Amino acid sequence: MTGASARLSVNGPRLIADLETLAQIGRGPGGGLDRTSFSAADSEARAWLLRRCAEAGLRVHTDGIGNFVMSPDYDAETAGRPAVWSGSHIDTVPNGGDFDGSLGVLAALECLRRIQEERPTLDRPVRAIMFTDEEGNYAHLFGSSALARGFSRAELEALTGRDGDRFVDTFSAAGGDLDAAANTKLNPAMLHATVELHIEQGPFLEQLGHDIGVVTGIVALGGGVVSFLGRADHAGTTPMDRRQNALTAAGALLVALPEVAANVSANAVVTSGIVTVEPGSANVVPGAARVTVDFREAETHLVSALEAGIVAAAQDIALRYGVQAEFDFETTIPPVLLDNGIQTVIAAAATARGLSHSALPSGAGHDSQNMAQLAPTGMIFVPSIDGRSHCPEEKTAWSDVENGANVLLDTLLNLARD
Ligand code: GLV
Ligand code: MN
Ligand code: MN
Repeated sequence: MTGASARLSVNGPRLIADLETLAQIGRGPGGGLDRTSFSAADSEARAWLLRRCAEAGLRVHTDGIGNFVMSPDYDAETAGRPAVWSGSHIDTVPNGGDFDGSLGVLAALECLRRIQEERPTLDRPVRAIMFTDEEGNYAHLFGSSALARGFSRAELEALTGRDGDRFVDTFSAAGGDLDAAANTKLNPAMLHATVELHIEQGPFLEQLGHDIGVVTGIVALGGGVVSFLGRADHAGTTPMDRRQNALTAAGALLVALPEVAANVSANAVVTSGIVTVEPGSANVVPGAARVTVDFREAETHLVSALEAGIVAAAQDIALRYGVQAEFDFETTIPPVLLDNGIQTVIAAAATARGLSHSALPSGAGHDSQNMAQLAPTGMIFVPSIDGRSHCPEEKTAWSDVENGANVLLDTLLNLARD
């Protein structure tokens, strides 16, 4: 398999048709995709993906947390060797876009189909992966976190989704086995390398006019819930100076968050995307208010400073408003640098296909930041039109989809050979 004439390429129209078909599953009233992990739409998308694999003659192993590992049917000879993995996720944020995650799963599937069709001789197996709940309805990068660190049964039992449902109930209703979920953890010796293709979700490649992003690293991802606990009282009879209004305190925190981020670094970001109020009645002074915080920063030592800054600001505000502040933070997923050798392979693959490329970091979280703890890992970005993502307007040109998938295929084949 040397020389341009022998080079494998993806079947672009087939990949595009798959992306268009998957984008039909879970279309919500806001115009975007609502495919929260383990929802009916997510289950339908998983069933569709299994059918696509069966049609292509691929095998699928579903692990305890619901990650899919897809393989060709002809590589028994190398199957026991450390494998080259590629994948992403098909769950979405509420009212999300058609490309976030789906591109990485369907491009990896397409690469595997081409490998299955052409049966190249490889020194190690190639696998396509679909990770469970990347968007973190239950836990940040849930499926890959399970592979990297595992979750105890007690940890799983404590997880709730954004609708307030308990993970264990939803998972069991979807046919999951809790013991298997708690036993899910990957032996890093099974892996040689991992590569994920993803849309950039930001504006830089488009601004530069470049085709391919060679990702250098991924920022740390932290988050959790800050609860303010005050006192519920009558909205008409409680004088303003006798209130312990939890929502007023929460509002003060939201206003303070940009300064908290700016005090840590110019790149630090903090977002509050969900606010819940109890008891939630127009004529009751809010007794409790809970706000989610999602915070990201590239430098390891600044991530904890960011978390500490949020806590200090909330405590200060709680004191000022006469309420209590409580914190429930997830374990922060550390920042990672991606593998230099794989970056070189990706850049060379882009150049060989006449594609311009530039190195850039990822501000978004990805399963690759967990996989990088297990094996050398790389990521390929393709441009996002107007830099939009996590919204229905999210779009990538079909030519960029095909280019990215071809660079992925070249990279996987390179890594699968000695
Ligand atoms: C995943 O999309 C994330 O960055 O939250
Ligand atoms: Mn996302
Ligand atoms: Mn994603």
